[in-house]
Amino acid sequence: MFESRSGILLIGGLGFFLFAFLSNALVPILLYRDLPEKTVEELADNQNLIYQFEDLSIRYPEQFKKYYGEPNKENLAEALQVGHDVYVAEGCWHCHSQYVRPVSNESVRWGKVASSDEYQNRLNRPVMWGTRRVGPDLSREGGRRGNDWHAVHFFDPSSLSPNSPMPKYPWLYDDNNPSKPNKRGIAMITYVQWLGSWLEQYPLYEDYVPVEKQMQDPLE
Ligand code: HEC
Repeated sequence: MFESRSGILLIGGLGFFLFAFLSNALVPILLYRDLPEKTVEELADNQNLIYQFEDLSIRYPEQFKKYYGEPNKENLAEALQVGHDVYVAEGCWHCHSQYVRPVSNESVRWGKVASSDEYQNRLNRPVMWGTRRVGPDLSREGGRRGNDWHAVHFFDPSSLSPNSPMPKYPWLYDDNNPSKPNKRGIAMITYVQWLGSWLEQYPLYEDYVPVEKQMQDPLE
């Protein structure tokens, strides 16, 4: 049997299967057995992100109060979880990856190359690496844009990015109004602001211009 062509293919096939199992399952398990998986509550304990959540509560006070109440850590954890679930349900991962690869100078465009420990948390179950990049990689999206930018962009991407093929998501808003993100809308924005918020490259919250000041007339 071992000398026949089918025998060689069988042994070779089983061998590669075993190798894949070792490298894709056993090695990661052994590498991370001492690194506990972070809970959503632990992820919410992040000053960069708390700042963004507070900013949302000031920008959209009515909707924020209605769906999340106060901008505290417990409610932030809830928003993160809902945002993650919407990301999965809407299939954002069909068009966006969450993995900066160590090739093609990707780090020049997006920042630090992804490391495997970044995925050791609840919000990466299931992993959101994605397989296609119709749109940009999102793993360093947090802090790149303001919350209001995201609110308008999810409502109608092509209004900010002409000819964008990204779909509109009007059901993330009350009364079909881009300045009234609903529970899922606020959650979606919180989730994209979370992406990369654990890295040093995240724009520091101290550097932000307070929202009240941003809203002032620039000519005043
Ligand atoms: C059909 C493919 C497609 C789908 C589905 C899609 N996007 Fe996009 N997305 C794009 C493209 C292309 C761009 C770049 C053009 C633009 O800004 O609209 C983009 C841009 C973005 C940006 C801005 C990135 C930046 O800083 O320039 C964010 C954030 C984003 N998408 C999040 C999402 C989320 C969250 C979802 C799911 C609710 C989603 N996208 C669904 C294609 C898609």
